[in-house]
Formats: sequence, C-alpha cells, structure tokens
Amino acid sequence: MERIGVLKLLAAVSDCRTTLMMRAVTAGCGRALRHRCWSDKRSMPARSGNGNDSCRSVRTENTLGAVHEETSAVKQMAVIYHSGHGRTEYFAKHVVAGVRNVAGAEVSLLKADELVATPARLAAYDGIIWGSPTYFGGVSGPFKSFMDSTSPLFRTQELRGKLASGFTVSSYPSGDKQSTLMSMVVFSMQHGMLWVGNPPNLENNAGATPDAALDRLGSWTGAMAQIHHKAPVDSFDKGDLETAKLFGANFARTLRRI
Ligand SMILES: Cc1cc2nc3c(=O)[nH]c(=O)nc-3n(C[C@H](O)[C@H](O)[C@H](O)COP(=O)(O)O)c2cc1C
Repeated sequence: MERIGVLKLLAAVSDCRTTLMMRAVTAGCGRALRHRCWSDKRSMPARSGNGNDSCRSVRTENTLGAVHEETSAVKQMAVIYHSGHGRTEYFAKHVVAGVRNVAGAEVSLLKADELVATPARLAAYDGIIWGSPTYFGGVSGPFKSFMDSTSPLFRTQELRGKLASGFTVSSYPSGDKQSTLMSMVVFSMQHGMLWVGNPPNLENNAGATPDAALDRLGSWTGAMAQIHHKAPVDSFDKGDLETAKLFGANFARTLRRI
C-alpha cells in the first residue's frame, strides 16, 4: 500500500477512536465529568442552595460529528466571620451578595466559632474570605481561637494555593483596622494562601457624597467599614455596603480566573 494510503488509514483510525472516546464520555456524561470534579473535593461544603451542579459543561459538535466537551468547575467559596454584636455579620452578608452577582462561584456564609471543632472543612473551598470586627486593634478573641484551631491544616499545608482575603468593621474611622487586616494576611501567608486585595474604585467616586463614596476609608489590603458602636446594625454608610459587594464580586471574579 502506498504511504499516503497508510497515513489516511491511520488518520481514520485515530479519528474514529477520538470520536468513540468523545461519545463514551458524553454518553456517560455528565456523570463521568461531574464525578471527576466532585472527587477533587475532600468533603463538600454545605451548599448555598441554588442547586447548581459543581460542573458546568459546554458541548459542541462539528460537522463530522466530533464532540468536544469542556467543563469548568464552579468555584466553592466561604465567607468565615465572627461578629460580637451583629455589625460584622451584616457587612458579611453584603460581601456574600456581591459574590452571588458573579456566575460560577458558590458561597457559604459560616461562623468562625462554629468551625473551631472542624477546621478540616476549610479544605473543601477554593477561596476563603475572613471577616472579624476590630477589637483592640486586632481580630476578635473568637476569631483568633478559630485561627488557632486551623493548626492541623498548617502542618499539612492543606490550604496552600487557595485564595484568601479579609474584611473588618470597627467604630472609629481608623480604629487600627489595618492591623486587623494584617493579622489576616499573615495568617493566610502562613497557610500558603494567595491574598487578593480590594482594588481601588476611585473613578466611581466622582461627585459622590462621603457616605455614598465607594471604599471611602481607602482600604486596598482588604475591605473596611466603620459604624458607630451604638448604631443599629443596618445603619452602615451606603458606600461601605456597596464596597462590601464590590469586594465580594472582585474576589469571586479573581477565583473564577484561576
Ligand atoms: C472588646 C472591644 C474592642 C474594640 N476595639 C476597637 C478598636 O480597637 N478600634 C475600633 O475602632 N473599635 C473597636 N471596638 C468597636 C467595634 O469594632 C465595633 O463596635 C464593631 O462594629 C463591632 O462589630 P460587631 O458588631 O460585629 O461585634 C471594640 C469593641 C469591643 C467590644
């Protein structure tokens, strides 16, 4: 047989095998593909509830019937916070709302003190945002206890390569909030995580009143908010709550890109 004929035959066999493989995959799909995504997780987090699968797939078929299937795992995120009097919790819910504006990321809102006994649950998330009020220029006692409870994960470096960020709420305009964020940064670095900041939104503030200005406290390490210690929990400045949403959305988008 001439060389061309052999080559054609080989190409046909290889084409056929590829097509058969594709068909096998899609016939079993999304089970096989979904299974691969789910099995990447050691234990699944409590789902935030929209019932989406953890994998999304795009199926294309060319004119020759070859099927190409792409899957992209939905990213799992957690916002883990402590709040002594409800203000940090209120802010955390706005961060979560911002995440939910981004397709392809699912988020769970978890209380730090409820995770102290089960820190291994953190391994299920691709990205985690920490939230704590500023108490005496640092994270609150319960949040610190939660941090310390993660030491088994430090030994195994189970959180390495995951994304992290943080936010804090305090009653004074400064109130030493930066030092709270820095303790979250150091905590994340010790776990080998990658820190995502809070990019400036300066261009959106033209003409905004101070209470409505985005990131009015100018915090780019993470998100900050300030509210009087006797104010009702829902009386945050509008700009702080918008900042919370943008901060959550930016984190989710960053997570989607990796
Ligand atoms: C023990 C304690 C220490 C605090 N230390 C600070 C502080 O260092 N700086 C500050 O601006 N506010 C401080 N505050 C005020 C809180 O940060 C503020 O009331 C915050 O909104 C509380 O959040 P939470 O309602 O989620 O607990 C402190 C409050 C408490 C109870």
